[in-house]
Amino acid sequence: MHKRLLIPGPTEVSAKMLFEQTRFLIGHRTKEFTELYTAIIAKLNRFFQQPSDYKATITTSSGTLWFDIVGRNIVKEKALVCANGAFSKRFGTAIQDCGKEVDFLEVEWGKAVKPHMIAEKLGSGEYDTLGICHNETSTGVRNPIYKIGEMVRKDYPDVMLAIDSISGMAGDKVLPSKIGCDVIFASTQKCFALPPGLAVGLVSDRALERAREVPNRGLYTNLVRIFDYYERKHQTPFTPNISLLYALDKRMDLLLEETHEGVYQRHKAMAEYTQKWAKKHFALFAEPGYESVTVTCIKNTLGKSVKELNKKLEERHFMISNGYGKLAEQTFRIGHMGEWDLAGIKEAIWHIDEIWGLGK
Ligand SMILES: Cc1ncc(COP(=O)(O)O)c(C=O)c1O
Repeated sequence: MHKRLLIPGPTEVSAKMLFEQTRFLIGHRTKEFTELYTAIIAKLNRFFQQPSDYKATITTSSGTLWFDIVGRNIVKEKALVCANGAFSKRFGTAIQDCGKEVDFLEVEWGKAVKPHMIAEKLGSGEYDTLGICHNETSTGVRNPIYKIGEMVRKDYPDVMLAIDSISGMAGDKVLPSKIGCDVIFASTQKCFALPPGLAVGLVSDRALERAREVPNRGLYTNLVRIFDYYERKHQTPFTPNISLLYALDKRMDLLLEETHEGVYQRHKAMAEYTQKWAKKHFALFAEPGYESVTVTCIKNTLGKSVKELNKKLEERHFMISNGYGKLAEQTFRIGHMGEWDLAGIKEAIWHIDEIWGLGK
């Protein structure tokens, strides 16, 4: 039975996007592929309003590959990683697994990381990279990356800023050159509203220069190889997921048509509606003022069974998510991202109200 996914990834994929992937394959060393790939890169650069010293690329992987890419290409010796949820913690441990040193700036789950907390740590001068998660999908917290970026660029210009925006990009407002970040990345199964299998990375020239100085970049994770290959051949160094690229090409057309600001406003409207409803009946897990616009994490103050709810929602063709990891019992999450719109969210919440008897 088709359940429309209101989980925070993979999100609902439209029939049109699914259909795009059924086209016949082309060789990835052909002119046709070059045309397809360069067109998508140009569309990504346009959508994210990238100046010439920022470049887009696409890896055939889920987003987590970019934890390794940062660990192997950007961190020279030691990184500071802000951990205020499950994914940001994983970002740091992944960098450690790449053989680099990591100090964690641990912040209580549900709270945001503030610039002054980071400044206190960076002041020691021992870090060459700062890693942070923009949109903590496990807690529904949106960290203030513009303010953080401004502080880092002004006071610690040599520190590379690497951001996991896996559940933020293409939903929230993410303009890398305005943030002042060096690497930012996302997976296609989130706000890009496509199946999992590709990750989009936006990289500054500074970051690429840094990568050239860092040894042991690996093979599949080697940013220099990825960008040099593109420069020379306008293709990917290894066989990409061509079927998904067909869909991403069309999805970028939709995003460009809606505009970056339009996409953000649609997500904001969905978040505001969901969060108003959540506050009326439950409470939000995120610190006030730092609520995500793509996923709402709700404290389950009424002790409702999300498993039972999902069984009933399934008959109505919807599915939401329970809490993540250690928050599984305490919270539940509604992902309002990708191609969802306010009408769809209102409809889903109407069904939840009816099943749980929350009424007016
Ligand atoms: C913030 C964040 N980081 C990392 C990941 C892992 O991404 P992927 O499953 O695409 O590797 C997720 C997935 O939910 C996420 O939400």
